[in-house]
Amino acid sequence: MESRRVTRLKGAITVPGDKSISHRALMLAALSVGETRIRGLLEGEDVLRTAEALRALGCRVENEGGVWRVSGRGVGGLAEPDTVLDMGNSGTAARLLMGVLAAHPMTAVFTGDGSLNDRPMGRVTEPLRRMGARFTCRSGGRLPITLTGTERPLPIEYESPVASAQVKSAVLLAGLNAPGRTTVIEPRPTRDHTERMLRHFGAEVRETDLPGGGREITLTGQPELEACDIIVPGDFSSAAFPLVAALLVPGSLVTVKGLGVNSGRRGLLDTLMEMGADITLTDERVEAGEPVADITAKTSRLKGVDVPPERAPSMIDEYPVLAMAAACATGTTTMAGIAELRVKESDRIAAVAKGLELCGAGVREEADQLTVTGSGAPPRGGGTVAVRLDHRIAMSFLVLGMATDEPVRIDDAGPIETSFPGFQDLMNGLGASIEGRSTGPNGPAS
Ligand code: S3P
Repeated sequence: MESRRVTRLKGAITVPGDKSISHRALMLAALSVGETRIRGLLEGEDVLRTAEALRALGCRVENEGGVWRVSGRGVGGLAEPDTVLDMGNSGTAARLLMGVLAAHPMTAVFTGDGSLNDRPMGRVTEPLRRMGARFTCRSGGRLPITLTGTERPLPIEYESPVASAQVKSAVLLAGLNAPGRTTVIEPRPTRDHTERMLRHFGAEVRETDLPGGGREITLTGQPELEACDIIVPGDFSSAAFPLVAALLVPGSLVTVKGLGVNSGRRGLLDTLMEMGADITLTDERVEAGEPVADITAKTSRLKGVDVPPERAPSMIDEYPVLAMAAACATGTTTMAGIAELRVKESDRIAAVAKGLELCGAGVREEADQLTVTGSGAPPRGGGTVAVRLDHRIAMSFLVLGMATDEPVRIDDAGPIETSFPGFQDLMNGLGASIEGRSTGPNGPAS
């Protein structure tokens, strides 16, 4: 797939539903009593894997014209699957479901694609073992993994060494079926969608900010979760692509409506505004327990900034697209404290550095840092970037190609389907020129 330079992007759009919230909505609906109706669910491959796994666990999950109906089986009520749970490319699906099943007396086998089977799972199996679950893992604590859950999970207090919403959520979801209180202490606050969604279904969750910047979250176990209605807001991480593209392409004005703007997700806005971006938030509101707004971005002259490491959790998935903006800005942008990027869908520090180098940008890669230097004009472009089964690498470089002299090609557009179905048409509708289809291992992109 190839993206060529265009003269302007214009329009008001919505983007597909938030991926993090979609996974959680399906899982908590499955653990509640009654029928939950979900509107705006992301119908991307990652979330469809979660839906399919819940069906294998005995839930009725149906899509009726865009309204998803889930019949819950109650906390601890899922049935043993008679098939392997294939979570595809989705770390969130795998890690959160392991948390859920750790507190069910059953055996389940988890696997994924080449990317997911290479990612560390020890970060969730370690606390879940303490709660009583057993795991047989491939070397390095990786998938495929056989999990044997426990009938009597122990409530624990777990101090997580990594700032990870997935780790926090896995422990809290296991804690749902444990008697007493389960506590997670995170070194830095991460996205709190699980906590908000648990409250929405009627659970008791308390959060305390700790001196030194951490946060403690305590769940009271064995609640009766009640089915409810959910509206999933647009995914800020998906909107980041059209918004950054609007900043880079001359003469652009793009509005994305109905976006989730949870403080655990909007770090990119702070960074772009520090770089001089003309971005405005309007109509800020709360929908189904989540803050939502419309965001407008206009073409802007950007300057390099130092992104502080403590901001990483709130923009963890946005560094690749920020790096594209940094390559077009004047001066140097440093992104420090981002070692976690090495264990995402790909090693994103390496994938971004290699791709930017191919496109003629000034970039330096260190163990936990990326430094990008721009001249105030877009780099040359012209490279064919290896996507490495990573949707955000694919979309980031297509955004860069909208501003570079020479087109930017990616070797595989298939992964875009995991989080942003319709990306190509939506961007072309705004004025982009993205052509071609995937020829990579995931097959056609559309
Ligand atoms: C997610 C949390 C983040 C993020 C991922 C989705 C979630 O991962 O990178 O895309 O839905 O909880 P970590 O919590 O492991 O950093």
